[in-house]
This record gives sequence, structure tokens and C-alpha cells, in this order.
Amino acid sequence: MVASSEAALAGSPTRSDAEVVFNRDEGADNWRMRLRVPGWPRQTAPGQFAMLTPGGLTKLSSDPLLPRPMAVYRVFTEAGGAEVEFLYKVVGRGTTLLSQAEAGEVVGVVGPLGQGFSLPPSKGKAVLVAGGTGVASVYELAALACEKSEVWLLMGARSAADLGNLEDFEALPLNLEIATEDGSRGHRGLVTELMGAAGLDGEEKLTLYACGPTPMMRAVAKLAAERGQRCFVSLENPMACGFGVCLGCAAPRSDGGFSLVCRDGPVFDACEIDWENL
Ligand SMILES: Cc1cc2nc3c(=O)[nH]c(=O)nc-3n(C[C@H](O)[C@H](O)[C@H](O)COP(=O)(O)OP(=O)(O)OC[C@H]3O[C@@H](n4cnc5c(N)ncnc54)[C@H](O)[C@@H]3O)c2cc1C
Ligand code: FES
Repeated sequence: MVASSEAALAGSPTRSDAEVVFNRDEGADNWRMRLRVPGWPRQTAPGQFAMLTPGGLTKLSSDPLLPRPMAVYRVFTEAGGAEVEFLYKVVGRGTTLLSQAEAGEVVGVVGPLGQGFSLPPSKGKAVLVAGGTGVASVYELAALACEKSEVWLLMGARSAADLGNLEDFEALPLNLEIATEDGSRGHRGLVTELMGAAGLDGEEKLTLYACGPTPMMRAVAKLAAERGQRCFVSLENPMACGFGVCLGCAAPRSDGGFSLVCRDGPVFDACEIDWENL
């Protein structure tokens, strides 16, 4: 794996109750929550995640029993901690409870956790492919990569409404291409079809990054392997503990073993993953 200065600089995780700064509905079950997190380290590697507990770490209720993993979307560092933003989709009990947290209430946070993305080589080309909630994992990567590389962000969703609020990405100096399955915005079809449209098919010297549904990442990994392109993926296996204890997040490796997504990932070199058995 390419050495990642950001990964090397990432600090120790905090375990604390964080005050909700805001938590807002952005349509189509997409929510944006900002937390003021005491003890959050000064450095977060792009692609790291946190385990969130609605109601706080010491709440009496056991609902939900387990914290929920969420990618760190953006970090605003401040003295003594940070404000950390998460983008999440309400899909079940845990995310429903998260969406009910109001400003001033607390959410338990353990993070930042896991291994983040390596940056593309300086003056290189980077193509970020993000589908659905996978977009939350790539903002900090996109922002950092833009400083030294040419960046394409290929974003896919079912419909324009599912894309959520793209203002942060639109403010970055990158090439943004969009695909929706129903054609309500951008190319009608799958996000992987944009790779050819962006004229990047024949480029060997680019680094691919993919985060989203497993079939999408599998397709990107296959294309990268066929073209000899470097590819990193961020897996979203369901997690219980988030730090390598429960073994619940194991992902099959191409060498026959298993990796723990929470501890060894969530970011992996795509060629390390056994995509047939994931
Ligand atoms: C490292 C990591 C980062 C993540 N980052 C984000 C993020 O930034 N934004 C976001 O919206 N979600 C993210 N997820 C997924 C998120 O953790 C789950 O959607 C959440 O835990 C669901 O909790 P729930 O109780 O609401 O739903 P549950 O009741 O647990 O599940 C509801 C439905 O969602 C499905 N589901 C649950 N977990 C996952 C998962 N990991 N992947 C796909 N389907 C799942 C279940 O199979 C079920 O169909 C991430 C997951 C991981 C492992
Ligand atoms: S979530 Fe427990 S080992 Fe990974």
C-alpha cells in the first residue's frame, strides 16, 4: 500500500459523549449531523469512521444495543476537540434514533477508527467513484487530493433526490460527473458507466477509489484490475464493536485469509479482497 502521511498522522481515538450542534433532514432520508466531540485528535485520515451511540455512551436504555459505524464526512478542528460532520441515511432503528437527536442532546462517539485512504501521487490523476451513502467517505479525500492532483468525482445514486446536498463537493476544484439510475440528473445509468465517458479508460497512471454498494465496488475493482490501475475501496461490512474484538466484520482476502474491516480497513487495496466471496 502507498504510504499515507494522513494515516500516519492520525491520532488516538476518543471515547466521549458529543453535543449535537445540528442534525438536519436533507431529503430522501438523507441526514447531516454535526457533533462537537471532546478529545477528537488533531489529525483524521480521510476514510476513517466512528461508532455512534444515539443517546450517549452512558445512557440507561439498551436501545440500540450496539453503536452504528459512520464514515467521518468532514472535520472542523478547534481547540480541545473538533466539530465532526456525518452524512447518513435512515434505514433502520439505529439511524432512526440518530435522526431524533436534537441540538444540545448527546451522541456517544468512539473514533476516529480504522485505516484511511492513501493519497494519490503528487501531480497524479485520481478518480473517486462514490455510490449512495459511500459519498460520505470521500469528501476529505477529495479535498486533500485536489491540492496536488487532478481529481474526478463520479457520483451515483438512484435518483437526483438521493444524491443529497452536493454543495461541499461543488465548491472543490474537481471534475464532478453524476449518474442516476432513473436519469433525473446527469447520465442515466450506473456510475461505473461514467468512467468511459470521462475518457479515463486507457489511463494506467491513475488511482481509483471506490466507496458504495458492494456490486459497484466489485465492478470498479474488476475494471481497475483489467487496466492495471491502482484501486482502493472502502468496505461497509456491518460492525458490532468497531475495534477488532467481536470478529463480526470479517472480509475474505484474495490470499484465502480474512481481514477485519474495522481494524485492517475499512480501506483496502482492491486486489487484497476476494470479491467472489465478499
Ligand atoms: C465503516 C462504515 C462506514 C459507514 N458509513 C456510513 C455513512 O457514512 N453513512 C451511512 O448512511 N451509512 C454508513 N454506514 C452504514 C451504516 O452503518 C448502517 O446503515 C447502519 O448501521 C444501519 O443501522 P440501522 O440500525 O439504522 O439499520 P439496521 O436495522 O441495522 O439495518 C437496516 C437495513 O440496512 C442494512 N444495513 C445495515 N448495515 C449496513 C451496512 N453496513 N451496509 C449496507 N447495508 C446495511 C440492513 O441489512 C438492513 O436491511 C457505514 C458502515 C460502515 C461499516
Ligand atoms: S466490528 Fe468487531 S471485529 Fe470488527
